[in-house]
Amino acid sequence: MARNTFNSKFGAIAALAGSAVGLGNIWKFPYIAGENGGAAFLILYIIISVLISVPVMLSEFVIGRRGQGNTYRSYINSSGKRGWGLVGGFSLFAGVIILSFYSVIAGWSLEYIYLSLTRSFAAMTPAEMSSLFTDFVNSNRPILWTLVFLVLNCIILSFGVSKGIERCSKFMIPALFLILLFIVIISFFLPGFKEGAEFFLRPKWSEVTGQTVIMALGQSFFSLSLGMAIMITYGSYIKKDQSLVSSALIVTGATVLMAVLAGLAIFPSVFTHHVAVTAGPGLVFVTLPPLFAQMPAGNIVSLLFFILLLFAAITSSFSLMETGTAYISEEWKIKGKPVGRISALLFLFVVLGIVSVFCALSQQSGSSLIVMGKTLFDFIDEITANYMLPLGGIAACLLVGQLMPREVVFNELTSEGKFSATWVRFFYWLARYLCPIVIFYMFINGIN
Ligand code: PHE
Repeated sequence: MARNTFNSKFGAIAALAGSAVGLGNIWKFPYIAGENGGAAFLILYIIISVLISVPVMLSEFVIGRRGQGNTYRSYINSSGKRGWGLVGGFSLFAGVIILSFYSVIAGWSLEYIYLSLTRSFAAMTPAEMSSLFTDFVNSNRPILWTLVFLVLNCIILSFGVSKGIERCSKFMIPALFLILLFIVIISFFLPGFKEGAEFFLRPKWSEVTGQTVIMALGQSFFSLSLGMAIMITYGSYIKKDQSLVSSALIVTGATVLMAVLAGLAIFPSVFTHHVAVTAGPGLVFVTLPPLFAQMPAGNIVSLLFFILLLFAAITSSFSLMETGTAYISEEWKIKGKPVGRISALLFLFVVLGIVSVFCALSQQSGSSLIVMGKTLFDFIDEITANYMLPLGGIAACLLVGQLMPREVVFNELTSEGKFSATWVRFFYWLARYLCPIVIFYMFINGIN
């Protein structure tokens, strides 16, 4: 049977960008940038993304497109050694646990879409917003929404790679971009635009330290979905005549652009109303809704914002769920017959459903689900970002940069000579030498 592929170049790019642009860009990037040097952080993030993340992404693409299988199989096929399958398994595992906490937050956006439709945030005080959020987190509703979110993922994936993933991404990514642009345009007319843009974008080089560089690297890795099996699985769906180098550069560019737009959409309101700048759930679910609701056409703006959040989250989450679906449906057998996609999805739904219910419960106040002094949620976030993703990234670079024959890698990256090898040489060199060293340094630093 022919392997699934993305049908068009644009579809492939939309799917890749959909995976990359997620909650990480929208609620984390603007805040970290604002607090850590503004445009100085942005410049650092761009340099690191091009010099480190793009070569890692290319290595993952090569493993997938050359290996023509799920992440586990692609590692084995590309290396010719069974042992590398373990590395693939490890990245798959990292992905599945990331998804269990990601689905919880994505589920919150469903509640807030519902709230935006049923009440107006404009008249609510910060204290009321904050208790609305705490009451919600402490109720059983997050569990319900998380499960609804997982079901939505399963439905999309049950249509397959090109009819499910590609078709949804082709609609959702442009829609997400337009919504973001619309909110930025409205923000531009707010009295706090200049101050907000300045907080986010004025270069403050004095704030940049060694730690900032490590943060930029971590953020770049997470936001470009590296080290979590996604780019290998998606790489295996990219047609042989599509340029991997330009795909990687376009996806990176789009991710940076969306992160910058998210900052310009968010901070002007924060500064117009003189509220404290926060990150994460506090910003997205407590601070922003009433501010957006006070804009012209306020209710619509807050509704659109949560739809945007849902699109960003779901195009990322289904990329991760697809890695598991591809693995199970291609590798597992029952009575000698391969498990189909639907059974694979059902299995994943049950496993992810159970783990994410625990993640949701661990968010409630007084929860006893504490691992090493942290909520289960924070614990998973930390071990994946600091340890598992960098390890996956190093492994991909070592395989492609050191172990696979150079001609094989070059053939893959130039599509058998169809595209110029100039940039390929540059990125190959980076993947071979610079990336493993820098990422290893980041990993060691994460341990301290
Ligand atoms: N790039 C995603 C983001 O920024 C990371 C991610 C991908 C998370 C897939 C979960 C699933 O949100």
